[in-house]
Amino acid sequence: MLWTNEMRYRNYRTITETEEKMLLEKVENSIWRQSFHIQPPHGLLNDPNGFTFYNGKYYLFYQWFPFGAVHGMKHWYQVESEDLVNWKDKGATIFPEYDHESHGVFSGSGIVKDDLLYLFYTGNKRDENWNRHASQCLAVMNTENELSKLEEPIISGQPNGYTDNFRDPKVWKDEDGYYMIVGAERENHTGCVLLYYSTDLCKWDFRGELKTDQQQFGHMWECPDLFQIDGEDVLLISPQGLEPDGEHYHNVHNSGCFIGKLDLKKMRFYGGAFQELDAGFDFYAPQTTLAPDGRRILVGWMGLPDTTYPSDTDMWANCLTIPREIRIKNGKIYQNPVKELTRKRKIMDEWQGTLNQQEVMLDQFSGKTFELICDITVEKGTAGVKLRVGEDEETLLYLDTEKEKIVFDRTKSGVPVATQYGTIRKTAYHEKAISFQIFMDISSVEIFINEGECVFTSRIFPKQGSTETMFFANDGMASFAVKKWDYE
Ligand code: FRU
Repeated sequence: MLWTNEMRYRNYRTITETEEKMLLEKVENSIWRQSFHIQPPHGLLNDPNGFTFYNGKYYLFYQWFPFGAVHGMKHWYQVESEDLVNWKDKGATIFPEYDHESHGVFSGSGIVKDDLLYLFYTGNKRDENWNRHASQCLAVMNTENELSKLEEPIISGQPNGYTDNFRDPKVWKDEDGYYMIVGAERENHTGCVLLYYSTDLCKWDFRGELKTDQQQFGHMWECPDLFQIDGEDVLLISPQGLEPDGEHYHNVHNSGCFIGKLDLKKMRFYGGAFQELDAGFDFYAPQTTLAPDGRRILVGWMGLPDTTYPSDTDMWANCLTIPREIRIKNGKIYQNPVKELTRKRKIMDEWQGTLNQQEVMLDQFSGKTFELICDITVEKGTAGVKLRVGEDEETLLYLDTEKEKIVFDRTKSGVPVATQYGTIRKTAYHEKAISFQIFMDISSVEIFINEGECVFTSRIFPKQGSTETMFFANDGMASFAVKKWDYE
């Protein structure tokens, strides 16, 4: 299907009943629909937006193009949850209306003030020469979900010295007022974030660039986030265009963080090395919020820009990750599935055993939607688990103790995705014992290693009949302790 600009830049308000029915039918027949992940009713989902605890619930929005699986006129689509597990669909909430957002309401964040939810987003406009004009905008929602948008941007255009890649405001409250960081690109095509200040959330002053040690790190920093946790300040960014470096940055774009100290007076973030957030294939533009009990919760887009997926022909694409609690331990970021997810656990199966240069298929561990915890101690060689195994299909996850690597291999996972970026991901690992916590949905897998010290997030598109799970030990002996819960 050829998508012209005219087809891409349509407002959802112009959809006809017949069109929507056709889209919904296509989606309903899609074999890739997820069971416990947030996914669009039709069309394309990308970044999580406006993630906030408000009015006794988690409010979460996502970037949405309604008419098919391409990027175009973006809207904000809303979902809500009391427990981070069951999400209610609230429909499209922020629509492009004004001239300064004529080509989409782009990503942004939320903050609560005076019992109102302030939603900050980027107005994206293209002029007749297709030049971009970016502004930062505000919409306010009340507890009845009524939304009022400010007719004028709160920040019109980027400051001097920066390009029109100026978007994704994230706002937080500090001791002396409110701060906003906006993702930006310097005129020399390097990425950074810009800092703004406000006392009332409506009038914003430009403070300058938030200086970091990274003067040349990607060409545009998208979707920044800044927060404090475990006594550290964290600057989260999705820098575009990083070159692969050893085992890192093999996807088209990547996300990660700096952990350090924020000095707002000096407008400086003193941070250590960039820590990549995910070692898998499909993870981008994460955003966090603070839970009422003080946990920092992160949700990411389980997809990437400039990437086509097999579900595209079914007129939908992408989903969000499961919500994760993040922590910092010894200067390192950890991610774990939120504890509320254990409510989805149904019947449990267990197995313990030792394998010596052999593999086993155990019926009770087969399936398409489950959580599996697999603790392995490898004496020698490689050992791991094969997921979604079927005719000529398998998704491999194993520890290679000779090469000292954890390996995730989707070469034979089914319909291929973005193979030009490789089909295997590895990460260095020097121990003999390892714990995998695996969340399997119809077309995705999220793997948390050793209580979240490393995560592999990936879409996979196996045949419906590929449902077996196998455990294996090559070139030596390994002992396994496995638990599995079926998800509804
Ligand atoms: C990141 C991003 C953001 C932008 C949004 C548009 O994936 O490019 O920078 O606001 O997507 O949908």
